[in-house]
Amino acid sequence: MADLAEQLKWVNDAAQSEAKGVPGAHLDLLEAIQALSNAVTTPAEKLLRIRFQPYLNVCIRIGQELGILQVLAARGPKTTAAEISAQIKVDGLLIGENISPCKVCRLLMIPVRVMRPITLAGIADEVGVAEYAPNETTSYAIQKGIIGDVNTDIVLKTCSSVGPMMRDNEFHQFPTADQITPVSYTLGKPLFPFLSENPEYGTAFNNFMAARRQATWHKWYNVYPAAERLPLQRLKTEKDAVLLVDVGGGTGYWTQAFSEHFQGSLPGRLIVQDLPKVVHGISIQGIEHMSYDFFTPQPVKGARAYYFKAVMHDFNDEVAEKILGNTVAAMEKGYSTLLIEDFVLPEKGVGWRAAHLDIAMMVLNTGIERTEKQWKNLLESVGVKIVKIWSVGDISEGNEAVIECEKV
Ligand SMILES: C[S@@+](CC[C@H](N)C(=O)[O-])C[C@H]1O[C@@H](n2cnc3c(N)ncnc32)[C@H](O)[C@@H]1O
Repeated sequence: MADLAEQLKWVNDAAQSEAKGVPGAHLDLLEAIQALSNAVTTPAEKLLRIRFQPYLNVCIRIGQELGILQVLAARGPKTTAAEISAQIKVDGLLIGENISPCKVCRLLMIPVRVMRPITLAGIADEVGVAEYAPNETTSYAIQKGIIGDVNTDIVLKTCSSVGPMMRDNEFHQFPTADQITPVSYTLGKPLFPFLSENPEYGTAFNNFMAARRQATWHKWYNVYPAAERLPLQRLKTEKDAVLLVDVGGGTGYWTQAFSEHFQGSLPGRLIVQDLPKVVHGISIQGIEHMSYDFFTPQPVKGARAYYFKAVMHDFNDEVAEKILGNTVAAMEKGYSTLLIEDFVLPEKGVGWRAAHLDIAMMVLNTGIERTEKQWKNLLESVGVKIVKIWSVGDISEGNEAVIECEKV
């Protein structure tokens, strides 16, 4: 067991840094608390927590589907299980018709049972016997982008197929297009084609991508100081000149934030490119949505900046080279900038978010979260060089960063 006093000191120091608003201190505090918990949890308890994790997902899923969390959020403090039951759409069997002869008890069962893990996880508060109150996390959990739920329905399903898939097939860390992956084994095809063909999940995924902004306290155009690096005097001002192309930009929420931040003070068009099903019918003032498949030549030539957020990590180097190659060919040497926002991992001591997202990329796509060395190799292979890595926080833990590149 690690030295408890040392772990407590780390928590204390990190809490003080966070209180002072030190950049990256929040993540450091979370890591410190996790390390403290690891230090006092026995091996059997650790494994049990991991084993029980899916049941929490199930409770959240039931809570969202039946509307338990929505009722709670709408009613405000001190909502009883009976009040929740009166408003949710439960069918008798689901709530355990055969278990209790008492109708009231039957109605209470589902909320009471699912609210136990939910309140233990801090997603709502238990304020009395079968009485609950919503908290900040409840409001977050019921958002359009969180409900839906790609995580439970697709991610957990895919994760649980990994063992059977490995027994039936060879496992390839970086599979080629004709090799099976956990996600194609589970869904019958890669993730993005599946999302395009299944609008319920496609919309849920896009909503989640937008909603996750709330868990992202940094803004990429501040981390990469856009006002300073894209100076007015160096921007083309012709009518057609393009300032920013957000490639694989989803429905355009990050470019919308960029646009609202700069309020038209930087000249040039703002373009969001994504698959047809994603950009179809979307209209945001001041932004052009363009249907574009990034495996084809980039149609927008000589833009000031091409921005890829959370795209490159979806793909292995072989595929990423094709995507980047298409955009690098459209860049104007000496003018265009390539901006890639993704995690940059250290060789040792990768933080919790980056370490897990890396596995998500392996299971759900064919991708990887890259170290600085791996980024350098990939980027050099497509004819650009890194000018600077602008990091959100302490790069030594592996944080999101904006990698600024120029064409060589
Ligand atoms: C992980 S999401 C990132 C979205 C957005 N950049 C963000 O960070 O919120 C990857 C995006 O790539 C898009 N995408 C996948 N395949 C594509 C393709 N062949 N051409 C263009 N966009 C694609 C997806 O539709 C999705 O919006």
